[in-house]
Amino acid sequence: MTVQLGVASDHAGLELKRTLVKELEKRGVLVREFGTTTGDSCDYPDFAHAIGRAIEAGEIERAILICGTGVGMSIAANRNAAVRAVVCSEPLTARMSRQHNDANVLCMGARVVGTGTAIDIMDSFLSATFEGGRHAARVAKINPA
Ligand code: RB5
Repeated sequence: MTVQLGVASDHAGLELKRTLVKELEKRGVLVREFGTTTGDSCDYPDFAHAIGRAIEAGEIERAILICGTGVGMSIAANRNAAVRAVVCSEPLTARMSRQHNDANVLCMGARVVGTGTAIDIMDSFLSATFEGGRHAARVAKINPA
């Protein structure tokens, strides 16, 4: 796994994010931290948009976003045309989102998935590759002209 990976969360996702970062470090993956770094209440769109800007600028290739449900992060992140964010609560969707949709941002809900499942989802997302072909033509149609 040599992907340039960004990570971010709000307060609700902070603990799970820290756990995932430790798992990534064990796997030798270098991550760029975009916050939040404290348990103080904060607003998930601020972090989703920071990640979107970094992807758009080519500073990171992919990212993991954690909030309470993953929903707010995914909605906000997908407002950036460079982002294809998916919210996952099981590994199959994470893998297929890479293979068929070339998803570049994985969102998870710390109040939805347990730690073990979150790690499985993360590993599925990071190890899968985009299949291209017919899927590339479809992905190219995602952003409206
Ligand atoms: C914060 O309470 C919560 O609303 C946020 O983490 C997220 O779940 C929103 O989608």
